[in-house]
Amino acid sequence: MQEQISSLREEITAQVSGAENMAALEEIRVATLGKKGSVSGLMKGLGGMSPDERKVMGPALNGLKTEVADILAARKEVLEEVELEARLASERVDVTLPVQEHAAGSVHPISQVMDEIAEIFAGLGFDVAEGPDIETDFNNFTALNIPEEHPARQDHDTFYLKPDAEGNRKVLRTHTSPVQVRTMMSKEPPIRIIAPGRTYRSDSDATHTPMFHQVEGLVIDKDTHLGHLKGTLEAFLKAFFEVDAVTLRLRPSYFPFTEPSMEVDVQCSFDGGTVKIGDGNDWLEILGSGMVNTKVLEACGLDPNVYQGFAFGCGIDRLAMLKYGMNDLRAFFDADLRWLKHYGFQALDLPTIAGGMSR
Ligand code: PHE
Repeated sequence: MQEQISSLREEITAQVSGAENMAALEEIRVATLGKKGSVSGLMKGLGGMSPDERKVMGPALNGLKTEVADILAARKEVLEEVELEARLASERVDVTLPVQEHAAGSVHPISQVMDEIAEIFAGLGFDVAEGPDIETDFNNFTALNIPEEHPARQDHDTFYLKPDAEGNRKVLRTHTSPVQVRTMMSKEPPIRIIAPGRTYRSDSDATHTPMFHQVEGLVIDKDTHLGHLKGTLEAFLKAFFEVDAVTLRLRPSYFPFTEPSMEVDVQCSFDGGTVKIGDGNDWLEILGSGMVNTKVLEACGLDPNVYQGFAFGCGIDRLAMLKYGMNDLRAFFDADLRWLKHYGFQALDLPTIAGGMSR
């Protein structure tokens, strides 16, 4: 019997060290320690032995059983390591391969331009703020000094939603200016934000689509003044159009939410059928701006004797058209793959001040 045990031990040890994978190892485990396994078979024999025999064989068989379990466990550890290595080798990805060859989609020019704008303003210390597309009448109009009977309401070609039980109508925001209101109501100055996003007006031709994009800027502090506005816009437009200098013309204008209000033109040339920003004999109207009206500050709970600031609003689609040379706004939203392929941007080519805005 003792001999039987030691030859079985040798046999099993050889089998286990020859097992090439986990499946083979499992087979050996079943064939030895399993219910009908060789070791278990010997253990069953204990019942028919004399007490003296059992005293010797019991510990010997138990020892064998433990030994077999140990060598199985040790082999398992080795095989697991080997299998992990094999898997790592087979799933290896070469991260140095150029991505371009594999990229199927591209970044839409609007998304690209929004990223460029956020990057430039981040460099100037601005946060990005957001608001919902469906706004309250208060945030979109009333708080911005456009009460019910104000003529500016007619200019906005507003999409109204069905009124609720109390008769309040929500609107699809007609500009990003309600994000100014939300920000002033929820944050303590100093405030320095831009708010890019979708806006809606019932209008459609080559330069108007019912859904379009704006970016709002808002700075509120104790002594923010018009010079800061001009400097900010100059820094932004220079970086955005990737030119060394821009000349701005601030024209007096009117917006209910700013006082004084200014329309901002940028010097450009239309020579040779393309727009060149930075020099030339022409002016291109590019955004609306002004000092935040004291009535708006009050409506948003800020004391106009303490705080003042500026705001500006600008069409993102128009900026994209000017920078990248598209002439029909409607094409932006046609989802024409050929157009997207032509004007789209590489997904991993993020705009940065250091690396360049557009590449
Ligand atoms: N909200 C204005 C528009 O949509 C733009 C604007 C924003 C003007 C902020 C001045 C200040 O036309």
